[in-house]
Amino acid sequence: MPLSQLTLRPAALSDADACRTLSAAVGWPHRREDWEFALSLGRGFVVGSATEMVGVGLWWGFGATHASLGSIIVAPGWQGRGVGKLLVDRLIAATDGRTLGLVATPQGEALYARYGFVAIDEVRQHQGDWPELPAPVIGPNESMRPAAAADLPVLAGLDREATGLPRAPVLEGLLSRGHAVLLERDGAPSGFGFLRRHGRGWLIGPVAAVDDAAACNLIAALLAGRRGDFVRIDVPARSGLGAWLGERGLPLVASAVEMARGAAPVVPGPAHRFALVSQAIG
Ligand SMILES: CC(C)(COP(=O)(O)OP(=O)(O)OC[C@H]1O[C@@H](n2cnc3c(N)ncnc32)[C@H](O)[C@@H]1OP(=O)(O)O)[C@@H](O)C(=O)NCCC(=O)NCCS
Repeated sequence: MPLSQLTLRPAALSDADACRTLSAAVGWPHRREDWEFALSLGRGFVVGSATEMVGVGLWWGFGATHASLGSIIVAPGWQGRGVGKLLVDRLIAATDGRTLGLVATPQGEALYARYGFVAIDEVRQHQGDWPELPAPVIGPNESMRPAAAADLPVLAGLDREATGLPRAPVLEGLLSRGHAVLLERDGAPSGFGFLRRHGRGWLIGPVAAVDDAAACNLIAALLAGRRGDFVRIDVPARSGLGAWLGERGLPLVASAVEMARGAAPVVPGPAHRFALVSQAIG
């Protein structure tokens, strides 16, 4: 079938099932609920023939100046025929001049480079069977507790320190889907971490914290005292968490390139990003 017989339209929440079929066809583990989460927070396009969905691409806006692109998939039987380019063309037009970020699979990297995306970091996917970790060691000047909806402004503030982006709606969506913990040191918010169901099991992320010790304690707190089967975490290479995760039974299984098109956001700190929401959202 020629490309001209395909139609492109805005993606809707009701596309979640067809998106799950598409992602399974390229070996991605996303469940319908994972697509519903992505679709509920973002916008995008689906491409279809009369009988099936053959492509999807989404974007998430962070204020008026930044956005991320992700969940870009073309059905294996349609790859190499221009559907990917069609989707990226439309996504870039829809994002209205924003600076764009994405995490590229090896398959997608060449396509994005063509649109001026340049590599800025590497994202490392660690995963494995749920490790049995000792409870975190909380210092006398620290406290850690579950985060609740009322903590959203604090979480969004730390997240903005770590990413430079206003992402309160994403964190709000996450709060209703999983567990979150908040660390205070000397009475000041010093880090948070989220855990939710995703794909084959559970996903840790995002995690933002003022230093390595805080990030490791947050991850240990999310894992200890709960039971699960499989757990995954996507960490920026520069976070330096890889060795710690590997020693705890979450080995590196894949890497992807983080890319940006336009001036990357200014990351004010002092909190740093230690784990992504997902490779799609960043
Ligand atoms: C990446 C992907 C979306 C590209 O979609 P596509 O419809 O195959 O891409 P297009 O046909 O529009 O090709 C776009 C350009 O990328 C190139 N390209 C496509 N697949 C490629 C591959 N596997 N290796 C190298 N280049 C490739 C094409 O040659 C084309 O360049 P050209 O104009 O010079 O010919 C698709 O391969 C896919 O769904 N892969 C699996 C899921 C995935 O990894 N998604 C990316 C997430 S970031």
